[in-house]
Amino acid sequence: MSSSLRSARWYAGDGRNAYIHRAWMRRGLPADFVDRPQIAIANTASDLTPCNAHLAGVAQAVKNGVYEAGGIPLEMPVVSLGETQVRPTAMLWRNMAAMATEEMLRANPVDGAVLLGGCDKTIPALLMAAASVDLPALVVPGGPMATGHFRGVPLGCGTDVWRLSEEVRAGRLGAEEFRRSESSLIRGPGHCNTMGTASTMALVAEALGVVLPGLAGTPAADAGLLQAAHESGRFAVELVAKGRTPSSFLGKGNFHNAIVALAAVGGSTNAVVHLLAIAGRLGIDLTLGDFDRVGADVPLLVNLQPAGEFLMDDFHRAGGFPAVLREVRDLLDPAALTITGRPLLEQLEDAQIRDPQVITPRATPLQPHAGIAVLRGSLAPDGAIVKPVAASPHLLRHRGRAVVFSSTEDLRARIDDPDLPVDEDSVLVLRGCGPMGYPGMPEVSNMPLPRKLLQRGVRDMVRICDGRMSGTAYGTVVLHVAPEAAAGGPLALVRDGDWIALDVAARTVDLEVPAGELATRTADEATVRGYANPRRGWERLYIDHVLQANVGADLDFLVGSSGADVSRESH
Ligand code: FES
Repeated sequence: MSSSLRSARWYAGDGRNAYIHRAWMRRGLPADFVDRPQIAIANTASDLTPCNAHLAGVAQAVKNGVYEAGGIPLEMPVVSLGETQVRPTAMLWRNMAAMATEEMLRANPVDGAVLLGGCDKTIPALLMAAASVDLPALVVPGGPMATGHFRGVPLGCGTDVWRLSEEVRAGRLGAEEFRRSESSLIRGPGHCNTMGTASTMALVAEALGVVLPGLAGTPAADAGLLQAAHESGRFAVELVAKGRTPSSFLGKGNFHNAIVALAAVGGSTNAVVHLLAIAGRLGIDLTLGDFDRVGADVPLLVNLQPAGEFLMDDFHRAGGFPAVLREVRDLLDPAALTITGRPLLEQLEDAQIRDPQVITPRATPLQPHAGIAVLRGSLAPDGAIVKPVAASPHLLRHRGRAVVFSSTEDLRARIDDPDLPVDEDSVLVLRGCGPMGYPGMPEVSNMPLPRKLLQRGVRDMVRICDGRMSGTAYGTVVLHVAPEAAAGGPLALVRDGDWIALDVAARTVDLEVPAGELATRTADEATVRGYANPRRGWERLYIDHVLQANVGADLDFLVGSSGADVSRESH
């Protein structure tokens, strides 16, 4: 047995404990299994995570590759999070999924891991876990689903749900037709087919360097996915042999590259909070300001919904992610290494754009500045973000009076009230949606517009919230406001009629209420303690320990790494 393997600490020797560890695993594995690298396949497949349900088949391809390279593949189901299914929000359990995966990788006799994710929170949770346990690991993203069509028009998962539901509220689409479109949306295995959070996090993971080159964005139904999964299994065995742990190659430069990629593809705002959390696990000093600084001069090159018009299978056909990275190669950190041991830059030589309608050349960007803007001011002392490429240009500098909703329930109850004192210049404010307040920081910041304004043709308004928004959504939405209202942020003190000034170019968002007057205001009780006040369970733990959005919304005691050591025996 090679004593350099971590798993040998379980399996080596003649003692009773090693006997037990070995004997219970002899269920058809090769007789020499203990001498081989043990590769965990952390699988987020679940029937209740429809976007990841196909990962069982992907796991089989990974297993084949691991066996072929001389390793032992060990599939390990981990907490799965179906974005569309779980309430109140999948984000409430991102940290739980990360913690559970980290602990199970550490607790078991494994030497490395292949991480199978897809739906929004799954890849971030897996990467947070891998960073903290620091075992050699790589990600196989499950890939986007095929495009569905409704009345001859391609449907973007998520984005068109928002669009069609607003058409219904505006009275331009009947309820029956809306229901009919439901059967056209999901065409098979895979995650949302827009540049939403799932697509973004897959691409961002490749830009970080933890995915085999050219794999991210491969459609779920494409045979290339299984081929790459097989290759990833083989490569996991090599990673173990080389001892290439996340901390051995992931540095600030990898996150720099992820931010460049995020801007160039017009990716989801959720990537900000996930990348901050992953960096926190690695002890890398990534800040909200880095997103603005690095992303500011990156052009938008990808014409995909929600910022553009095409969908992920078009993206793959048009040359995929390497083609985008090649266009912005001068902006990438040339020293940042990937799991291959080579710099990201060196893996782009063969890439080329095959459809300039979908991926535009650098010389003709869709927008010159695609980075996520970080705002600060009296309404968001610790920061807030806005995605300018998904916003309306005429609203990027705006001053309007606040119309305040203290919860999503309050919003739903009053937004369509014909007597709501609101016009197109108003600023809609929604609070109580931060990590502590909701709890879990749901994707509600792109709040629906008042029906009476929709009927007058208004399609966007400035909206401000301490929650997140779906990566598939669009609009002039200031989100991730920190501190959140429930943590005592000024958002808790805004009142109807207050003036709010947004200036994205100046990176400011201000509540124009004199400090003296603000000091006399108190937040209402529900805002202070949040919507839920659970006595026990995960929600209690989460509320007591969750950090604010501007640092990644991880739990305070999960930041950093514990490594892979377990010093005590089990028997
Ligand atoms: Fe799973 Fe969109 S709901 S990726």
